[in-house]
Amino acid sequence: MSYFAYQNGVLHVENTPLTTIAEQFGSPTYVYSKAALVDNFSAYAQACKVNGRDDSTALVCYSVKSNSNLAVLNLLTRMGSGFDIVSGGELLRVIAAGGDPRKVIFSGVGKTPDEMRLALSHGILCFNVESTAELERLNEVAGEMGKQAPVSLRVNPNVDAKTHPYISTGLKENKFGIAYDEALATYRRAAKMPHIRVVGIDCHIGSQLLDDAPLLEAFDRLTELVDQLTEEGIHVHHLDIGGGIGINYNNDQPVAVGDYLGRLFRKVDEWRQRRYQGAPIQVLFEPGRSIVGNAGVLLTQVEYLKHGEAKNFAIVNAAMNDLMRPAMYEAWHGVQAVTQRSSEPRTYDVVGPVCESGDWLARERALAIEQGDLLAIMSAGAYGMTMSSNYNTRGRAAEVMVDGGKLHLIRKRERASELFALESLLP
Ligand code: LLP
Repeated sequence: MSYFAYQNGVLHVENTPLTTIAEQFGSPTYVYSKAALVDNFSAYAQACKVNGRDDSTALVCYSVKSNSNLAVLNLLTRMGSGFDIVSGGELLRVIAAGGDPRKVIFSGVGKTPDEMRLALSHGILCFNVESTAELERLNEVAGEMGKQAPVSLRVNPNVDAKTHPYISTGLKENKFGIAYDEALATYRRAAKMPHIRVVGIDCHIGSQLLDDAPLLEAFDRLTELVDQLTEEGIHVHHLDIGGGIGINYNNDQPVAVGDYLGRLFRKVDEWRQRRYQGAPIQVLFEPGRSIVGNAGVLLTQVEYLKHGEAKNFAIVNAAMNDLMRPAMYEAWHGVQAVTQRSSEPRTYDVVGPVCESGDWLARERALAIEQGDLLAIMSAGAYGMTMSSNYNTRGRAAEVMVDGGKLHLIRKRERASELFALESLLP
């Protein structure tokens, strides 16, 4: 189902015209559909349920980096979600949103001692450790606090996720994780550390995966390691397969979440039967994009149309600072005129006002538009607002969550004075 669809020639989010949102809140504005978020999370929750899982055997840890607005985190908390974080700041967000730290896993290659202390003091579920040096530091920090840190090693299964090189993370040449061949030795070391408690194994091979085959392959590689660990008396209680399921940006056909989880759980059950008399293991997921990506659009207004010899430009009031993905990955986002016109479409590059040639949101799109029209940049719910910046002293966009007929402002538009409030003049 699409939560963004035309009714009487006007693009709606659920049952609200996007024009109403622009009138009430201005633009650029990120607009999210609550129903879309609920349905996308439910696809995971349902698949866990129909495969006979509860929290102790499957936990969805939403990847906070994809969209970290408190209202989003709170909604997911209420649906039972755990969280995958990559900074102390994200942990504080989760807590502020009412999330349970005992359902939080902490990923990332560069955790600082302060972040470790914060996470330990809140009793998180697990640290996904990405190097030996990090393991040693964590052992030290936990020791100073008189605690034991729950640890899972992020193993690099060396599987090709077949996605954009910038968002592929499971290959030997990536900075992430512990090399597969070194994993066993690192686990042995971890198991001997007094302030480390080995609880799991983890991987994340990349993002925007359309096919689940690489994930299932990574799963097989992890289970081989788990079996070797078990033989040595090192027991892991959970296996974290990471996130990565893609969404439809442009005629993409990502695997359905329910199908992927069904196949994965079948593999889990076969493996546990074969090697562990059916004793269960908790499976963790870290999805981000597949939950929020298509639940949001970036609403923007055409400031000027510029018809040139070589190209036509639609200059809009959103820019690369609002949505970085096109500039950074040449990512493709759909662009829809909020109000449909009957005039002949022309081909436009949709660009922002920032002083960079890389400041474009879409290229070569057929659009029937006039100055002042509203556009929706589609599929912008994930890695949109969270990657935004204040470049060119542009305040970040407002965020609105639509719930049926109700509109909630979930983040106010930033004002210029707020952007330099932390700065000071020389004496
Ligand atoms: N877990 C870990 C350890 C991750 O690094 C990521 C994403 C996820 C989970 C969530 O992956 P997802 O389910 O969203 O694919 N900024 C890029 C995407 C970067 C992804 C980074 N890691 C983009 O805009 O496409």
